[in-house]
Amino acid sequence: MNPDGAPRDSLYAQVFENLEDAVVALDRQGRIALFNPSAQACFGISERQCLGKAHEELFAGHEQLLYLVKSAMENGRSISDHENIVIQRSAPPPLPVSVTVSPIYTHDGRREGVVLIVRDLSRVRDLEEAVRRTDRLSILGTLAAGLAHEIKNPLGGIKGAAQLLDREVAEQSPLKEYTGVMIREAERVNGIIEELMDLARPRPPRFSQVHLARVLGDIVLFQKEAHRGREIDFFLNIDPSIPPILGDENLLTRLFLNLVKNAGEAIERKGRVEIAMKISSEYHLTNPGNRPAPLVVIEVKDTGKGIAPEDLDKLFTPFYTTKPRGSGLGLATCQKIVDEHRGFLKIESSPGQGTSVSVHLPFLR
Ligand SMILES: Nc1ncnc2c1ncn2[C@@H]1O[C@H](COP(=O)(O)OP(=O)(O)OP(=O)(O)O)[C@@H](O)[C@H]1O
Ligand SMILES: [Mg+2]
Repeated sequence: MNPDGAPRDSLYAQVFENLEDAVVALDRQGRIALFNPSAQACFGISERQCLGKAHEELFAGHEQLLYLVKSAMENGRSISDHENIVIQRSAPPPLPVSVTVSPIYTHDGRREGVVLIVRDLSRVRDLEEAVRRTDRLSILGTLAAGLAHEIKNPLGGIKGAAQLLDREVAEQSPLKEYTGVMIREAERVNGIIEELMDLARPRPPRFSQVHLARVLGDIVLFQKEAHRGREIDFFLNIDPSIPPILGDENLLTRLFLNLVKNAGEAIERKGRVEIAMKISSEYHLTNPGNRPAPLVVIEVKDTGKGIAPEDLDKLFTPFYTTKPRGSGLGLATCQKIVDEHRGFLKIESSPGQGTSVSVHLPFLR
């Protein structure tokens, strides 16, 4: 590039400093010789803390990573793992990564050490999880909707018979209470079934410009009312410069109402629900031939009881509920609505501390 080499060196240094992938170079003794800023973010440790240290110390406990380094050092060939490596940092969350370790050769063919390229896979994993959930939901939804259809007719018969019976029972009879329960509960089952059929019915969404700030404001007002008398504080934190998005207002209202309702219900005695909206700095939607579309993120965060890690997987399954009078269709419905808007959902939770559900929606055109 340049005969004297110096500007080229500084270009190398700039590229190295600005790479989004973490780059770690080890010398022949396996000591850390280079550690770029992305590596510092990825491993949660500064360059100063690790330069000159043995890599076994930095990678302690990461057997697969140590194996890759050892193998590249001994065999002089590149080796990668795109599946199995998760970096455990001092501050959670653990980071899934793909790693390639390549030997470094000098111009005269001597081996100098190895270089590791470490790529953050957390966003890829989030998206994979969202796709898996959608697939599972569509199969379950179709099955359950078929079943719901079968239940609706006999249920109508039961309710009709209970109403007839109710009319036959004298006004002051204690039996009246039983017929009342029969009718009410039949109606409740019917409501659940309608909701379930809604979930699977292919009604195309009706898109128009939706002011999410207003939708969220209304939901908060409504939920404040619904939780009157309980010690729950609702907060709205919205970037006012966000333009309206193209979406189905009814469906989006239902989506956020379900999430805010869940947040309120997760709080046992006293707590806080915060709804924040901003433009995503992490993700954008890429369509072949189009410019990348930005995403808006709406986060509904509560200080409620949280969700055990082993239960996170079940939340979107229709009918999964831990509430005595829940239908278990809320989140399944949310997932469907988010899919119809070509967005995705992400849930993070720590038991005892609270839950955060974030909805990412693209600005469609
Ligand atoms: N914010 C939250 N905090 C803690 N647990 C949650 C939260 N949101 C959902 N869950 C868990 O996920 C389950 C399923 O939620 P979903 O909204 O699908 O159904 P539901 O709330 O039980 O019933 P419905 O929405 O019909 O009232 C809940 O029963 C609860 O255990
Ligand atoms: Mg719910």
